[in-house]
Amino acid sequence: MTIRAVVIGAGHYLPKRVVENAEFEGKIDTDDEWIRSRSGIERRHFVSEGETTSTMATAAALAALKDAGKTAADVDAIILATSTADLTFPSAATMVQAQLGMERGFAFDIQAVCAGFIFALANANALIASGQVKRVLIIGAETFSKIIDWTDRTTSVLFGDGAGALLLEAQEGDGTSKDRGILSTDLNSDGRLHDLLFADGGVSTGTTGYVRMQGNQVFRHAVEKLAATATTAMERAGIEAGESIENVSWVVPHQANIRIIQGTAKKLNLPIEQVVVTVQDHGNTSAASIPLALSVGQERGQIKKGDLLVTEAIGGGLAWGAVVLRW
Ligand code: UT7
Repeated sequence: MTIRAVVIGAGHYLPKRVVENAEFEGKIDTDDEWIRSRSGIERRHFVSEGETTSTMATAAALAALKDAGKTAADVDAIILATSTADLTFPSAATMVQAQLGMERGFAFDIQAVCAGFIFALANANALIASGQVKRVLIIGAETFSKIIDWTDRTTSVLFGDGAGALLLEAQEGDGTSKDRGILSTDLNSDGRLHDLLFADGGVSTGTTGYVRMQGNQVFRHAVEKLAATATTAMERAGIEAGESIENVSWVVPHQANIRIIQGTAKKLNLPIEQVVVTVQDHGNTSAASIPLALSVGQERGQIKKGDLLVTEAIGGGLAWGAVVLRW
């Protein structure tokens, strides 16, 4: 008998305010055609007054609980992946715990930037597999609009705000790749590459700072590292490399750039029809992008119970990784 961390609910929240590419024209030296063709992004959502990472995370969590037919009282732990917590401390996860009215359990944030949700999935899996908790809410939520330099055309057009959440539950499996739940994880980082993507603020500067990115350098690392980590995770899950196309139902990648998504799918020998794509509507929502894509993919009727999914992400650090799970 193997304990598996099985997804029993998914939900998401997107701020009401939708900003089309055209809104950037005239404010900075850019146009819809450049943004679309270089990134695949057409629009993104931005928070309004009063909305924060924790309020969006709570809304996504409530949607996931509803989808699972559970309440906050059924949850033992909350893991929130974010780089844009409301405050330096306490964690945004403890704010969500309070907003959900949870009176027990524990909550903490994970900071691995765009790869944060992959790291959250791996940590939730470890907590469940070791028998420490039965149900974990894992959330990815970001308000990158608060750390964007609106004068920088190379970053300001790329990011969006939002939140997605999954409820994971400990269930018994046979220990094979036919089990539902998380089947394998692969985590990586290389701190020597931190200059490629970072926010130039923090406690050492007394400001929150702005996103700085050498986009084409990150791009170069992304396709290569994402294909490698996805392949490693598939091997660990017992999925034969040559059979991957037949066995994998969906790849659910971090939604940063359609060209990275296409390039990675090609390297994995997977047709783009088997990739859940939301980047056109959400932009890059950092740690929120994978849970948003999972929840939207389920809502669209793409992702169904029993489907074999490969998720992968890369971001600042650089930090990257992949998770294979059966939905
Ligand atoms: O989520 C974390 C991981 N992040 C990513 O995965 C992002 C990875 N990188 C990317 O998605 C792409 O590199 C970008 C979309 C950021 C940029 O696309 P690119 O094809 O790599 O373009 P580039 O950076 O090489 O820039 C090409 C040109 C430059 O002009 P010059 O030097 O050739 O004259 C840029 O200044 O495009 C220019 N440019 C723009 N032009 C119009 C950069 N931003 C803009 C803009 N509008 N917004």
